[in-house]
Amino acid sequence: MAVRKIIRMGHPTLRQVAQPVDPKIVGSTAFSRLVDDMVDTLHDYGGVGLAAPQINESIRLAVIEVPGGPTRYGEVPRLPLTVFINPEVRVLDEKPNGVWEGCLSVPGLRGYVERPSGIRVDALNLKGEPQRLELKGFLATVLQHEFDHLDGKLYIDRLADPRQLMFEEEFLRHHADQPHST
Ligand code: NI
Repeated sequence: MAVRKIIRMGHPTLRQVAQPVDPKIVGSTAFSRLVDDMVDTLHDYGGVGLAAPQINESIRLAVIEVPGGPTRYGEVPRLPLTVFINPEVRVLDEKPNGVWEGCLSVPGLRGYVERPSGIRVDALNLKGEPQRLELKGFLATVLQHEFDHLDGKLYIDRLADPRQLMFEEEFLRHHADQPHST
């Protein structure tokens, strides 16, 4: 078990375009250890997704786990722990889906972001095999948020209205009846 430190907004790595993972290293001990560390870190910090640049590893790798289940906003779909290596996204449905997003690298804040509501993702899995997923709504938002990290982008770059960025405490006090991540 190794929980890594999550770097925060202002660290230059979060603004770099991450390098593709060489498929030949997938399955190596060092790579498996890195993925294990990311999962441990995700669980320790309590998020739904973590991209490698957030632990200062500038490679195109993300782990996502959405527990799902009923919430006050309705049923949130589940995505079991999934590893995405070199993900490529294709938009299937441009219709915007709005979510109040948060980010472990931008702690304590929430911002309202609209993203395409349907996507297809092609990536390698932990065995180095191609995997394809099609996702809608909340899960499509979570994946696009994580994959943005691989391009040096943060959700705050995508606010349509800068007034819709706020401290989490105030968000929960005044706006928590709207769909939000975690
Ligand atoms: Ni994030």
